[in-house]
Amino acid sequence: MPRFDNQTVLVTGGTGGQGSSHVRAFHAEGANVVIGGIDARRGAALADELGARARFVRLDVTDESSWSAAVLAAEDAFGALNVLVNNAGVQNPPATIADTDLATWSRILDVNLTGTFLGIKVAAPALRRAGGGAIVNIGSTMGLGGTAHYAPYVAGKWAVRGLTRTAALELGRDHIRVNAVHPGVISTPFINEPAAGATAAIADFYSPEPFAIPRLGEPADVTRLLLFLASSDASFITGSEYVVDGGLLLGPALPSEAA
Ligand SMILES: NC(=O)c1ccc[n+]([C@@H]2O[C@H](COP(=O)([O-])OP(=O)(O)OC[C@H]3O[C@@H](n4cnc5c(N)ncnc54)[C@H](O)[C@@H]3O)[C@@H](O)[C@H]2O)c1
Repeated sequence: MPRFDNQTVLVTGGTGGQGSSHVRAFHAEGANVVIGGIDARRGAALADELGARARFVRLDVTDESSWSAAVLAAEDAFGALNVLVNNAGVQNPPATIADTDLATWSRILDVNLTGTFLGIKVAAPALRRAGGGAIVNIGSTMGLGGTAHYAPYVAGKWAVRGLTRTAALELGRDHIRVNAVHPGVISTPFINEPAAGATAAIADFYSPEPFAIPRLGEPADVTRLLLFLASSDASFITGSEYVVDGGLLLGPALPSEAA
């Protein structure tokens, strides 16, 4: 039986590489899907393709009124909101802290951190009205360590972890679970195209070859974990964090000649 029959799921950045994978998978498992995003052309196309159980809503996660409208649209269209995936994210152009201007710092934190805060704040009452639900925040392996030249991104993703734990404490008694997923390097426009203001893409200089599972992650690798956390299979899991990185955080594997 599909795990999300009669449930409504809102995915932010739902037209992106990972977001669209999540949207399709929730839809395939019976959910009504609300594709939240700033790319209206892609959003409308994805909603059209999926049909009656899908809607695109224009949602800029940095804008509280945009959040209110999106949550209302989800309830209007499908009667309730059960799952929120805070997936929208942007990376900074690589620069040392000394060379990072305040506007860049603020722009990255606005989307990655404030966007997640607003999502939890605005969607939680709707999840409560639905009798409970699940929130999954997308962090990053870069939120578990340090990465030179990515201070705004790293700091924002670290902060999402604290927000996840705090929200889990505040919302647990309302039957709302809140967890975080930390992808490693996943093949999407995020790594295959340069960030705004950058000239090179991460894929131009990153190689998975030294790691335990020597390939790039695919959106579906993240989607499978995410759907588990959003489903009732994870009903006793909250405030937790899950890494899906093919062993990236383990560091380089031993070269085969050392075995
Ligand atoms: N791809 C990776 O290697 C990787 C690794 C770790 C974490 N992540 C995280 O995964 C999430 C999804 O990224 P992706 O890999 O699918 O990248 P992507 O660039 O394909 O998708 C990001 C999406 O966020 C949307 N977005 C940007 N600003 C927004 C805003 N203000 N409001 C609403 N939507 C906005 C974009 O339009 C896009 O659809 C992000 O949070 C990212 O930080 C990605």
